[in-house]
Amino acid sequence: MSAARRHMRSIDEVGRERIIKLLDLTGHMREINQRPVPKVPALRGRVVCNLFLEDSTRTRLSFDTAAKRLGADTVAFTGSGSSLSKGESLRDTVETLAAMRLDAIVVRHRSAGAPWQIAQWCEAAIVNAGDGRHAHPTQALLDAYTIGQRTGRGADLSGLRIAIVGDIVNSRVARSTTAIASMLGAEVTHVGPSTLLDPRLDVQRCTDLDQIIGDVDVLYMLRMQNERMDAAPVPPGGEYTRRFGLTPERAANIRVDALLMHPGPINHGTEMTVDPSTLSQSAITDQVGYGVAVRMAVLFDLLGTGEMEEES
Ligand code: CP
Repeated sequence: MSAARRHMRSIDEVGRERIIKLLDLTGHMREINQRPVPKVPALRGRVVCNLFLEDSTRTRLSFDTAAKRLGADTVAFTGSGSSLSKGESLRDTVETLAAMRLDAIVVRHRSAGAPWQIAQWCEAAIVNAGDGRHAHPTQALLDAYTIGQRTGRGADLSGLRIAIVGDIVNSRVARSTTAIASMLGAEVTHVGPSTLLDPRLDVQRCTDLDQIIGDVDVLYMLRMQNERMDAAPVPPGGEYTRRFGLTPERAANIRVDALLMHPGPINHGTEMTVDPSTLSQSAITDQVGYGVAVRMAVLFDLLGTGEMEEES
């Protein structure tokens, strides 16, 4: 395979310079999205396959929307209803897609490393839409973009204090958002019970949310990813929510100028018992909204060859 072929598989692989370029390009894509007809022919003739072998709402729909707004054709592929359910291997599936000359494959897979494996089986640009516990780089991009917009800091997050709270060890979002925030200068602290923290990650750790909740610039709550847990890592009976959940009492301690974020989907009643839409600090709707523009930027960066605004 060509070493020059470009992908979007992890924040570290992409690097700081390209991350900053993508955040800048996201601003241009937002401008397109605000037009009466939010569509340009920049990727006309290109084909983007959304290969989602794990459930998704936000990422799948926003990649589909992003590709269409740039004029690309899209192909949707899910495990159920395909020949994977008859026992066809992932390799045969990818080689079948490759024979159809697709330009990009956006892949979500329960196994860490799947996007790297798939890149060895086809010539398409590979976008990682979440691989197991490992990485979710476009979530990280939209998180960084949201923080940059809401704080007025753009791509310079230096000195911002970000607490990521909850099920860190099972979270690809925690890994990728920590990577991008650190790359852009933020100070990241992981908060949760010891059983859900990851000692391999080079960040500060804290087991007492109440100790830091009033100090942080960004409070980033995570979902409990029960589908990735082999054994119960926290006691039953609501202890997790009592110690680490965003209750109305705790929400009152978030600074008025801080941000509250969550990647979605939210497990209401577990990591949050407060309704985030009642909190002025909530940036959760912004995160979802910016997801389309971020993914337009990623697809254009990988597949675009010329001007965004060429005549149709
Ligand atoms: N945040 C996120 O990846 O959401 P989905 O699982 O709905 O795509």
